[in-house]
Amino acid sequence: MTTKKSTQSIHGRRDKLYRGANFPIYASTTFAVETSDDYYRYVSGDDEEFYMYSRYSNPTVRNVEEKLAALENGEDAILFSSGMAAITTTLLAFLRHGDTVVAQRRLYGMAYRFLRDFIPKLGIRTHFLDERDLYEVHKKFPEAKVVYFETPINPTTECVSIEKVVKSARKIAALTIMDNTFASPINQNPLDLGVDIVVHSATKYIGGHSDVMAGAAVSSTKSIKAIRDAMKAFGGCINPIDAHLLDRSIKTLQVRVDRQNQTAQRLAEFFLRQSKVLRVFYPGVPSSRSYKVARRQMDGFGGMLCIEMKSLETAKKFCDSLKVALNATSLGGVETLVSIPVLTSHIKMSDEELHAAKVTEGMVRISVGLEDVDDLIGDFKDALDAV
Ligand SMILES: Cc1ncc(COP(=O)(O)O)c(C=O)c1O
Repeated sequence: MTTKKSTQSIHGRRDKLYRGANFPIYASTTFAVETSDDYYRYVSGDDEEFYMYSRYSNPTVRNVEEKLAALENGEDAILFSSGMAAITTTLLAFLRHGDTVVAQRRLYGMAYRFLRDFIPKLGIRTHFLDERDLYEVHKKFPEAKVVYFETPINPTTECVSIEKVVKSARKIAALTIMDNTFASPINQNPLDLGVDIVVHSATKYIGGHSDVMAGAAVSSTKSIKAIRDAMKAFGGCINPIDAHLLDRSIKTLQVRVDRQNQTAQRLAEFFLRQSKVLRVFYPGVPSSRSYKVARRQMDGFGGMLCIEMKSLETAKKFCDSLKVALNATSLGGVETLVSIPVLTSHIKMSDEELHAAKVTEGMVRISVGLEDVDDLIGDFKDALDAV
């Protein structure tokens, strides 16, 4: 029987021993063998249910990996201790000395820094391209081995055409790796559009309660095997207790994201009517330049939006006047968060880099939570009155 996402999120592995509604937490770092000969089974690699050491794999973690694979329509998935562990391990699993990686210029800041400052130390060339050039990567850098990108883009929620990036990368047989954190597996499934590997900061929507750091990669069985081999050596595994927290969160992922989509739409429409807001960035409003692309590749427009005010001072005053929303970095949780990109995610960027990222001083990024929408509108209205 094929089931839909909300069902897959709830029903994973069963507790066969006691028939508990939840799959147990196997808080063991090591697992005993029945006889010493069992180790041969592990070495042969064909017994997936052979657990030896929890950095390699763990039943509680596997349950969540299987759910994520199902949610992203992948063959397999692997969990990590953070989104950055997922990103760095995945890139390093496929890149080697002498290779070229092409990345979108407007990326999550730390992924950008990893590609700019650390990858070149390994003798791997990195080139950053604007989105339009990413559609022509086969012409610009035909030697590219990996193309790394994300959509919607932080903080402006502009959308990149996944199909166009994939089409170009395929012409040169480059591997595509896409960060799907902003959309979540509910709103967008890049593997269906031909992306090879999806990565997530599961700290965000998948965890959803701002209480667990985690990351994930989803892909074919073969690619996940290669990433797991790298993970065993780099060591960025998740622990079973955090995996259990993710399991609990994933059960409500669909309802949370559906509600966040609805509230973000209402808020975007509210901000569009406010004279103190110069620009509103949300892919779900028909006036957005990303609306068409988003409609093609997303099932929902997401819980992230961005507004632009006239100056950094105005943006600060607005954020500091809020009573319900928290002035905090990160995203995807049940609580609404606001953050000023030039003071948070983009703080170390030069004027040229900010210009290229299309980030201005007056921007405020909003991660919509699950509070009552009228309470949020009231809070934002009062804060606008205060500036
Ligand atoms: C889009 C995106 N990707 C990756 C990351 C990194 O994830 P983590 O903080 O879980 O390492 C973040 C964190 O903010 C993010 O926003």
